[in-house]
Amino acid sequence: MITALQSWLFPPALTFLSGFTTSSYVNLSQITTAALADDALGVFKISSGTTHPVVTGPNSNESAWEAFYPEGSYNPNGPIRGGFGFYMTGPPSFAEQLSTANEVLTSYSVMFEPDWEWMKGGKLPGQFGGVGDLAYRCSGGRQNDRTQCFDLRLMWRANGAGEVYAYLPLSENNAQVLATVPPMSVENPDYGFSIGRGAWTFRPGAWNVVAERIKLNDPGKNNGILQIWVNGTTVIHVQGLELRNSSQSVFQGMHFQTFFGGSTSAYASPQDQKAWFSDISGAILG
Ligand SMILES: *[C@@H]1O[C@H](CO)[C@@H](O)[C@H](O)[C@H]1NC(C)=O
Ligand SMILES: *[C@@H]1O[C@H](CO)[C@@H](O)[C@H](O)[C@H]1NC(C)=O
Ligand SMILES: *[C@@H]1O[C@H](CO)[C@@H](O)[C@H](O)[C@H]1NC(C)=O
Ligand SMILES: *[C@@H]1O[C@H](CO)[C@@H](O)[C@H](O)[C@H]1NC(C)=O
Repeated sequence: MITALQSWLFPPALTFLSGFTTSSYVNLSQITTAALADDALGVFKISSGTTHPVVTGPNSNESAWEAFYPEGSYNPNGPIRGGFGFYMTGPPSFAEQLSTANEVLTSYSVMFEPDWEWMKGGKLPGQFGGVGDLAYRCSGGRQNDRTQCFDLRLMWRANGAGEVYAYLPLSENNAQVLATVPPMSVENPDYGFSIGRGAWTFRPGAWNVVAERIKLNDPGKNNGILQIWVNGTTVIHVQGLELRNSSQSVFQGMHFQTFFGGSTSAYASPQDQKAWFSDISGAILG
């Protein structure tokens, strides 16, 4: 598919203790191959009214999840539903290690159809975690228990500008650190933080490979790390974060969610359109 794919999914500067990938183009001794399928990847809590069929990805010989965003769709609970959403632990061998890990990488390839219309923005998968069930629904304007969860999905914005859409503890430290991430960061009225908007630009009609590394802070210290690579190049690298205030808040996997929005019709998809997600990967780094 892409010759550099292995190094884009698993940046060579990192050390991998173990991990998985659905890509057949990765040959790393620590990384096992998994099928792109709900049961193999530990998919659960699937959003009602959405589907994520497995197809052969465009310009690829690999399996991909297909997301369909009907015209007028926005907001995963809206009247017209588009995209899809679920949580994912990864295969059992990976899932078992998440709660004791300090540092985790996840990555995937995403293709937006060639005549894709970006509108104002939409969500893309990223990692999540927290204290037990408080890790779920760490999004959508939530204000309570924000020290007990973290959710670091990505977003596309107008014209394909990329960013991280972060739900992290609402601390003064995090606000100060996040506000400085170039080229632009914004604290949103829904209590999510847009980090590094425009640090990269997604290309329609091509496979864009995104990798996300998170290192948890030691409880009581502001020493967490967030790093994003796109096609193998670091585009965001933030240090000094607080993702939790106790060791009970742990990695739980990926919040594999995509939709247009935003919660207002101004975000609605302007046409029926599709995107594909492939090469789903994860690694325990420490
Ligand atoms: C995988 O890599 C090992 C050594 O790193 C090599 O010996 C082997 O031939 C490779 N397998 C494939 C299918 O490329
Ligand atoms: C898919 O596989 C076929 C048969 O091996 C090959 O001819 C074709 O080039 C492959 N396509 C891509 C996009 O890798
Ligand atoms: C990523 O790489 C693919 C294949 O080389 C390319 O078509 C695409 O435009 C790249 N995307 C970005 C954001 O650089
Ligand atoms: C973490 O934050 C929560 C909510 O603010 C608080 O109830 C809890 O006591 C804090 N835990 C520690 C270990 O500071």
